[in-house]
Amino acid sequence: MTSDTPLQILGGLSAREFLRDYWQKKPLLIRQAIPGFESPISPDELAGLSLEEEVESRLILEHGARPWELRRGPFEESTYQQLPEKDWTLLVQAVDQWVPEVAELVEHFRFLPNWRIDDIMISYAAPGGGVGPHYDNYDVFLLQAHGRRRWRLGQLCDSDSPLLEHGDLKILADFQQVDEWVLEPGDMLYLPPRFAHFGTAEDECMTYSVGFRAPSAAEVLTHFTDFLAQFLPDEERYSDPDISPASDPHQIQADAIERLRALLNEHMGDDRLLLTWFGQFMTEPRYPERIAGPEISEEELIEALEQGAILVRNASSRLAWAEVDVGLLLFASGQSRLLPPHLRDLLKLACDSSALHADNLGPWLADEDARALLKELVVQGSLEFADE
Ligand code: SIN
Ligand code: CO
Repeated sequence: MTSDTPLQILGGLSAREFLRDYWQKKPLLIRQAIPGFESPISPDELAGLSLEEEVESRLILEHGARPWELRRGPFEESTYQQLPEKDWTLLVQAVDQWVPEVAELVEHFRFLPNWRIDDIMISYAAPGGGVGPHYDNYDVFLLQAHGRRRWRLGQLCDSDSPLLEHGDLKILADFQQVDEWVLEPGDMLYLPPRFAHFGTAEDECMTYSVGFRAPSAAEVLTHFTDFLAQFLPDEERYSDPDISPASDPHQIQADAIERLRALLNEHMGDDRLLLTWFGQFMTEPRYPERIAGPEISEEELIEALEQGAILVRNASSRLAWAEVDVGLLLFASGQSRLLPPHLRDLLKLACDSSALHADNLGPWLADEDARALLKELVVQGSLEFADE
């Protein structure tokens, strides 16, 4: 398959055409993106997840204690018995981390960098339910999984767009509809950031949102500079050995700004540090507490693999890799490590494969660097034994 192969998930467009004409540019409705799609999780199972302490969930009631009332989970079973017949929605975040069959859906999006994908949120709506007209600051693919949902598409928004007065939710005060579609199971709507949208359930329905990560400019600046600052000694300061006599002692002159600019450029211009920070940032897990591995020795690990054990990626971990002049960088759940270049195929396998075992690891089990890496990933918790 090449970037020019027509893809069903993109309605027959190739990855290249989709990225060129739609990605981050304009919405795209794709009928039967996944023909005959059946949700691997039922509404009852989704409601079951929302009872769990560790799972992030929300309920939105259009006519609740106030218009668009927001309640945060975990919920009780009795919550569901008391809900009205219509006009409410349950949203459960990161279901891919709890249901492997949901995680498998990201395979359809291999034409985009995996580290850009954030998680798969699933909503269940009673008839008429929705979360109100709003916009998101990230790209989303809205896959209809069960029942029918009417999507209304509106104007392009920004932080100046007027909102309803609501402490919890950002609901648009002014929705200017430009299009409208009813999606059936298997249909999918792609929305770039900032397009107003408003989904309402025609009948009881479930929608999967494949959401993307994109740090804001403010996040890039604050997090990257915090990261850089760790490496800078206190004695490295603004300095002016080249200063000329002041004509007015109260004036800040252009030469001071030039020195500051040089100080910033010296540190901000380091691409290797920028890559290291970015890889760590983009692989930060949503639930770090779910990533903790056993204290196992290299010998114990290799023996277990040789006896048939299977390692899989921890569903909460995030992996990515990059090439640098001195080797390879592996990013695993917010951490990075520099590895020798000959481990490239192992890194690709670990990032890509759903299972690592003696068969596909083959000669890696005899490679010192590879063994050490596998052990570290197991101890860190990014890889775990399949039967755990
Ligand atoms: C939903 O599934 O109801 C909300 C998804 C969204 O509008 O972002
Ligand atoms: Co949205």
